[in-house]
Amino acid sequence: MLSQNMQSALNKQINEELFSAYVYLAMAAESENIGLPGFAHWFKMQYQEELAHADRFFTYILDRNGKVELDALAKPSVDEETPLSLFEKALSHEQHITQCIFKLKDLARQETDHATDVFLEWFVREQIEEEASTQTVIDQLRLVEGNPNGLYLIDRELSGRQPDAE
Ligand code: FEO
Repeated sequence: MLSQNMQSALNKQINEELFSAYVYLAMAAESENIGLPGFAHWFKMQYQEELAHADRFFTYILDRNGKVELDALAKPSVDEETPLSLFEKALSHEQHITQCIFKLKDLARQETDHATDVFLEWFVREQIEEEASTQTVIDQLRLVEGNPNGLYLIDRELSGRQPDAE
C-alpha cells in the first residue's frame, strides 16, 4: 500500500513526465520550423519515450492499489530557438527530471517503501542515459558551430534515431 505522501509524489511525477513529452513535442515542431527534420524526428522519439515514462508511473500506482490523479499541464516555453539552444534546454530539463527522481528515491527510502525504491531504479539508470545522449549532441553542435555542412550532417544522424530497447 502506498502512503498518501508517496502516492501524491508519484502522481506529480506523472505530470512531470507528461510535461516532458509536451516540451519535446514543442521542440519537434520548432525543429521542423527551423528546417531540421532529423532534429524533429529525434525530439518526436523523445516525446514518445516520455509518454512511456508517464505510463510506467501510471501503471505502478494502479498496481499498488493507489489512485491516479491527473493534473493540468503547463505550457512549454520553447520559442525562437537555435539548434544548440534546443538541446541545451533539453539537457537542463533532463537535469531537473533527474533531481525529481532522486527526491522520489529519497522519499521511498525515508518511508522504507522497498517496492517503490526498486521501481525507481530503472529511472535512475534511464536518467544517466538521457543526460548523456543529450550532452553528446550538444558537444557535436558546439564542434560544428557556424558550419552549415556540419549541422546538416548532425541532422542526418539524428534522423536515424531508433526506439530504445527496454
Ligand atoms: Fe522521463 Fe526524459 O525523463
